[in-house]
Amino acid sequence: MRLKNIFFLSFMFLSILQNLSGQQIIDYGLKVYKKANCMGCHKWHGDGGPGYGGAAMSLRTTGLDREGLKLLIACGRPGTNMPFFDKKAYVDDRCFGLKFEDFEGDEKNRPLRAKALLNKRQIDQLTDFIINDLKGKQLDKEFCVKFFGKPTRSCENL
Ligand code: HEC
Repeated sequence: MRLKNIFFLSFMFLSILQNLSGQQIIDYGLKVYKKANCMGCHKWHGDGGPGYGGAAMSLRTTGLDREGLKLLIACGRPGTNMPFFDKKAYVDDRCFGLKFEDFEGDEKNRPLRAKALLNKRQIDQLTDFIINDLKGKQLDKEFCVKFFGKPTRSCENL
């Protein structure tokens, strides 16, 4: 009986280790990054770059902390092409205390609504992904393979 327990426990332990080292763990934040099409502007590598309507900033060199990132994703950055992803943004006072009506007559600063909106949990997961995989990190092959789910041509020269 005791031997059986030891067997069982070591089996559990080994499978946990395998999960931690392998690719089995789903990165929900990465899923959100794709679903919300952050890559449409910040690119798959997160370094941003020139695109339609101005350059998206690099998420690798951002100086924003966790709270700053969450707020920026929820509220976007009025006056730039960074859209807001929270459906209550500028409806109540969660975004810098500003509402849509504050932008009346000021078309060029009017906040842009993202094509796909995100809930709080998704914004949290996405923020974890930015902090764990992008902020302050160099682009490398490991990230590339994780992003595409397999080695692709983009990963070859990394
Ligand atoms: C339509 C293009 C577009 C999309 C889609 C977009 N962004 Fe942006 N983002 C921008 C632009 C442009 C800027 C630069 C704003 C500026 O000039 O201050 C920016 C800035 C940012 C910043 C600020 C970086 C800093 O250091 O100040 C963060 C963080 C960010 N985006 C995250 C995201 C995330 C996460 C997503 C997906 C949920 C996303 N963006 C989707 C265009 C986009």
